[in-house]
Amino acid sequence: MVGRRGYSPPVTTTPTATHRIFDPLLPRVQAEGMLRLCERYGRYGMYSQEQSEAEIGQGLFQRHDAIANFLRTGGRFGRKGDVATLGPRTNYFRESYAYGEDVRISGVEPFLHYEGFVEAARAIHARPVIEPAIVYANILLPGQELAVHTDVPEFRGANRKIYPQWLMVVMHHSGLFEEYRMPIATAVGWFNDCRGGEFAYYPEGPDGPAATIAARANTGIILDTDTVFHGVDPVAADLPLPPLRPGMHLAWEDGRWVVRDGDIALAEYGWGDIRFSISWKAYCFADEDERRAWKEHQDDLDLERILARLVDDLRARGRLDGERPGPTALALLLIDEYVRFPRPAAA
Ligand SMILES: [Fe+2]
Repeated sequence: MVGRRGYSPPVTTTPTATHRIFDPLLPRVQAEGMLRLCERYGRYGMYSQEQSEAEIGQGLFQRHDAIANFLRTGGRFGRKGDVATLGPRTNYFRESYAYGEDVRISGVEPFLHYEGFVEAARAIHARPVIEPAIVYANILLPGQELAVHTDVPEFRGANRKIYPQWLMVVMHHSGLFEEYRMPIATAVGWFNDCRGGEFAYYPEGPDGPAATIAARANTGIILDTDTVFHGVDPVAADLPLPPLRPGMHLAWEDGRWVVRDGDIALAEYGWGDIRFSISWKAYCFADEDERRAWKEHQDDLDLERILARLVDDLRARGRLDGERPGPTALALLLIDEYVRFPRPAAA
């Protein structure tokens, strides 16, 4: 199932993660079918960074960790001074094609149930029970990129639906909640050839060098994106970035991709201009008992237990003495202490 055409290391084991590259990914007809499926789905909304409503870290962005790092360092290439275009550059387009068995567009099934992903997911976490959770499409336009980050992990009793995303990220990077974590494997597949938009990742951890793979038709990768830092380099950086705002959408109309602000067409693109990927995420369980404990909410964490454990650890590390700081100060301290980003290549 795993092709090796023109690639030397399709399987790499590192101290932090195993990833596998798929080249080719699907039989050719199925791969082309994914482009038609993308067109047939037709309308893609913007995925923008919303502020967290939770009391802990109120006013911070959901992904305060990744945004603050991007602003501080200028991203993977250390380009500073373009704060004004941060929103348009990083608010890309996303729609979900399947949630578990809830298939929202026909034709996605070969990707949702792709045995190559299931097999590789078992190997990544050494866990045999694989449950596909979501399949979604990301579309980036010329000039867009995705800041280096790790994905939002999930724990028994704690996930992005109830707590801020940065807190889930802090929990994982702290290593204090491993027995509650639901290991997830993420696969990404590309179905058109993109200019730029390389997938950049840090297979040896944040202190190691970045590896990149081109976003090339009918190729893919699977890895633990909750643990391995990754991002997307700028797409077709020679083309201008349209003045995107949250609420706009991208639509397939008469053989072109059109960016729309309501009725107004803002920009038009062909398949050769944009970066289209489909992501697949699956829970990886050790056994049926573990799957049951998760589904039936046995042994769930709650916010006070999470914060108490983190605060105890901050004290043990000498980062905190005296009273527990207020919610926002505590949030910033937690992000600063536990989420250690790779340094920009230029630094
Ligand atoms: Fe990601």
